[in-house]
Amino acid sequence: METPFLEYEESAHFKSISGVRAECSSCHLPENLAPKLVAKVDALRHVYGHLVGSLSTDEKYEESRLRMAERVWRTMEGNDSRECRSCHREEAFSFAQFDNHSAGLRMSKGLAEGKTCIDCHKGLVHKMPDRSSGYKKLLEQLLAESMDPDIQADKVYPLETVYSYSNKHGEVESRILAATKLTILANAGDWLKVRVDGWQQQDVDAMIYELQGKRIFAVALEKQARQKPVVHSTMLDPDTEQTWHKVSYETWVMSRGMVEEEAKLWNYGEKLHSASCGQCHMAIPAKNYLANQWIGVMKDMKRNVRHLSKEQYRFLRKYLQLNAKDVKGDDHS
Ligand code: HEC
Ligand code: HEC
Ligand code: HEC
Ligand code: HEC
Repeated sequence: METPFLEYEESAHFKSISGVRAECSSCHLPENLAPKLVAKVDALRHVYGHLVGSLSTDEKYEESRLRMAERVWRTMEGNDSRECRSCHREEAFSFAQFDNHSAGLRMSKGLAEGKTCIDCHKGLVHKMPDRSSGYKKLLEQLLAESMDPDIQADKVYPLETVYSYSNKHGEVESRILAATKLTILANAGDWLKVRVDGWQQQDVDAMIYELQGKRIFAVALEKQARQKPVVHSTMLDPDTEQTWHKVSYETWVMSRGMVEEEAKLWNYGEKLHSASCGQCHMAIPAKNYLANQWIGVMKDMKRNVRHLSKEQYRFLRKYLQLNAKDVKGDDHS
């Protein structure tokens, strides 16, 4: 069982430019051993037995990783990250010298507000526990269901980004992003003629957004299709003084990969959100931010969710935006 050792050897706590090494026991001294009395080797044996016990294979280790990690997190939350502080002294940090200046500000502000090291520095030495099995299973299930194109509803939502076509078997004219509402105009078995209702900003004819003034992506139009959306009305946004057009756009999509019930989409979104964004802090409710603010927050958090595919990242962003503070339930459905 070498997993924790291999991960450790990749980390900055094993090899660093300063040549100072944090041993397993520098971070994992068991509570019941008086720190000064324990020899390092002894502590390692203890740490290992204490945390890992008799897990004999990598598979068993992965299965137990979350449970083991939660135990370590609880200990560190409970003792204000004592082990980290034995090397890193809070008062000795020079936040102004951080490579990333705004990160330094966030760290000093967080500490001042009572956060502790482990609140922000999980997964530092070891891989983060994988909580993706729940939402992955759900996505597979939804994809499997959507492969049977016997659509009864009068509207559908793509599960992932899909291409749209000028006609049945015609040329590609746009990409429609996941969770965009498509009103069905004609159902031709494998193909659907659909309408997207949305908004365009003056002079940004490549994009259709879901709602006025909110950058929630619905459709990205190829050059040859940019004249196709029909303008129904025009308004001046009082906040930004930008001109927006209410538009509708008719196009063809394949009927596979569609979900008929919006609730199923948001159930998936919720699971994706809590598994991907609930490890370091509680998953922050969509309602806490405005739709446009979620773009910036998701950019900030991108480095924390590197395990998400592009498609999952976009879906999550749209889930948060369409459930944001300034979006009403019936705006989209
Ligand atoms: C035995 C001393 C020691 C302990 C204990 C220790 N560190 Fe470190 N830490 C270091 C050293 C040395 C470096 C590398 C510094 C360098 O050369 O840049 C480092 C680097 C870091 C870095 C930057 C590199 C990276 O991987 O991002 C972070 C963040 C960090 N430590 C946080 C923590 C936290 C959180 C804890 C407690 C869970 C902790 N450290 C425990 C000594 C220690
Ligand atoms: C509010 C969140 C937060 C808290 C609390 C926090 N940090 Fe950080 N820390 C950060 C961020 C953000 C960075 C920037 C690293 C990055 O961008 O990934 C950072 C960077 C670091 C670095 C690397 C500095 C560098 O640029 O080389 C070390 C070391 C570190 N933290 C240790 C600690 C220790 C020890 C504690 C507890 C005393 C702690 N941090 C508490 C957010 C926090
Ligand atoms: C710089 C501090 C630090 C060092 C050094 C360190 N660990 Fe950890 N360890 C942690 C933290 C923090 C966690 C909680 C999970 C997380 O955030 O990655 C953890 C979690 C674990 C777990 C639970 C499973 C998991 O992957 O989360 C095991 C087992 C473990 N450590 C063993 C070891 C061993 C063995 C070594 C030496 C080879 C070691 N650790 C070195 C900080 C450290
Ligand atoms: C690896 C840990 C980690 C993960 C995973 C994570 N966050 Fe964070 N998040 C932080 C830390 C640390 C802070 C506070 C310090 C900072 O701003 O860097 C924070 C702050 C935030 C804030 C406060 C506002 C802000 O922009 O600073 C929001 C909102 C947020 N996270 C949302 C998310 C969302 C959404 C996800 C999933 C896509 C996510 N977080 C995943 C660590 C994480």
